[in-house]
Amino acid sequence: MSEWLSPDVIASAPGRVNLIGEHIDYSQGFVLPFAISYRTTASLRRRDDQVIRVRSKQRLDDVVTSSISELAPGSQGGWERYVLGVIWSLGIKEGVDIEIDGDVPLGAGLSSSAALECAVAIGLSEMFSLGLSKKELALLTQKAENQYVGVPCGIMDQSVSLMAEAGAALLLDCRDLSTTLVPFDLGASGLELLIIDTQAHHALVDGEYAKRRQACESACTKLQIASLRDLDLATLIADRDSLNDEEFKRAHHAVSEMARTLEAVVVLRQKDFVALGRLITQSHVSLRDDYEISCAELNCAVDVALAHGALGARMVGGGFGGSAIALAGQSQIEEIKGAIAEAFKSASFREPRFFTSLPSEGAKVIKRLDR
Ligand code: GLA
Repeated sequence: MSEWLSPDVIASAPGRVNLIGEHIDYSQGFVLPFAISYRTTASLRRRDDQVIRVRSKQRLDDVVTSSISELAPGSQGGWERYVLGVIWSLGIKEGVDIEIDGDVPLGAGLSSSAALECAVAIGLSEMFSLGLSKKELALLTQKAENQYVGVPCGIMDQSVSLMAEAGAALLLDCRDLSTTLVPFDLGASGLELLIIDTQAHHALVDGEYAKRRQACESACTKLQIASLRDLDLATLIADRDSLNDEEFKRAHHAVSEMARTLEAVVVLRQKDFVALGRLITQSHVSLRDDYEISCAELNCAVDVALAHGALGARMVGGGFGGSAIALAGQSQIEEIKGAIAEAFKSASFREPRFFTSLPSEGAKVIKRLDR
């Protein structure tokens, strides 16, 4: 095997936490995520043949080799499919070597897969001078995940990984991908956003995610609307009899979550963190009871954080495991962490991991080396 030469382009992209607006990106709603400081880096080098080689800095001897003509949606494999899928969706026709590095916690629901896709995408776009906008890159990386890897995700994770800016949350309208930056400076108010990785990974995730999407779609068909974005609470309640119980509950979450997200933007601009905390907790209750995607570990983390003074707490991401967030005073964070660790121990759950992050910048090209 020929050696790895120095890269032509180095690019990086972050993971994300969603403040509020959960499971509504595929219903064309509003979401309010921010990029975290944990990032994935892709080092890319052009080849003069059709070969693709992918490896991770953590396991340098483990090289996956493929070729442009072999790229096909639905291919079997491991994490490298997220890289190959992006080469495929961007329509690259030349060979490339890609080495991946990074510190986005894996399996924690913090979008390590979007970080990987977006780092590769922005690097390829730069290296081959494709001139793709961040919106185009978001749609192409989502296409890679949907079609190549076969995960039916929405557009939120890739969009925020690409379009986020430091110091702000990103209000994303998932109908047209327009964005508004909302300043999000917790530190100045003596607050912190604690990320609690429950380390729970319930096997349900993929199938249940697809089922939630289907229930939202069948509710739309019955109500004769294009998406749940076109519904308001009063109409939903008036039309309750035309939906089954499952469709009603899923639609109720989506419609109420869209309203909460817009309200969160208003209170965030006013720096009313008590109101923000209340909305965050209401979001959790809705995800737990209407959307039914929480689990014992997530509920425990949220309940304990609230009992120890958090202003708000909720599960984040796809559900059935992964992370929760808690908004709390900086002086309370240690107590909350200790209490959650203790509660997890008594419940015989896996040991939780804790992270924190300021809102960070989105994907970028770090270096272009001329040769
Ligand atoms: C996953 C998906 C996103 C979004 C969230 C839930 O992270 O990738 O598109 O649907 O779940 O908000």
